[in-house]
Amino acid sequence: MTKSLAIIVGSTRTNRLGRSVAEWVSELASQHDYDSVELLDLKEIDLPAFDAPVPPMYAPNESAPVKAWAAQIEAAERLVVLTPEYNQSIPASLKGAIDYLSAEWHNKPTAIVSYGYMGGGANAAKHLREILTFVKTDLIEETAAIQLGEETTAEGTFHGDKTTEAEQASLLAALKALADK
Ligand SMILES: Cc1cc2nc3c(=O)[nH]c(=O)nc-3n(C[C@H](O)[C@H](O)[C@H](O)COP(=O)(O)O)c2cc1C
Repeated sequence: MTKSLAIIVGSTRTNRLGRSVAEWVSELASQHDYDSVELLDLKEIDLPAFDAPVPPMYAPNESAPVKAWAAQIEAAERLVVLTPEYNQSIPASLKGAIDYLSAEWHNKPTAIVSYGYMGGGANAAKHLREILTFVKTDLIEETAAIQLGEETTAEGTFHGDKTTEAEQASLLAALKALADK
């Protein structure tokens, strides 16, 4: 059976590392458990700052960009949500993108991958776990936390080949557990 994966790129700022971290995760996923991998890059998707006139759990949002976002999540077979850590939590861009939808998240097989300078973004991952549990995704236990540092972020870009074997193993284990869903 073919397996597809969509990776939500949670950061949107100028000079972000998120896109290159996502490309590395995508490469590993394509080499191992998935036939197709797509990036859902919130910078490209360009949702407005959260502005739903009615909470999305009561009525779906009727704006064109949010309807397009809803369709992308609805169509995704499995999700990796990739988050950096900003002030011990997830970026507003990612929180808004989650808040815009409701039923689309229900039972969606999902894994969390975090990155950051403190514990590989573990605090952000903890918050994201609470949020994604609350919106009823089918969240796998395994998480991967990528530690940023001098080597992995040299020249302002992310170098996946400089991550540790343990980090790569935890990422592959999370991708495998998600593929087995
Ligand atoms: C507003 C802001 C707050 C940050 N706070 C934290 C933090 O609490 N913990 C941490 O490990 N790194 C923190 N960082 C560092 C980021 O994790 C790091 O810059 C990472 O590259 C951000 O992801 P991005 O490049 O995709 O935006 C922070 C960065 C920013 C911009």
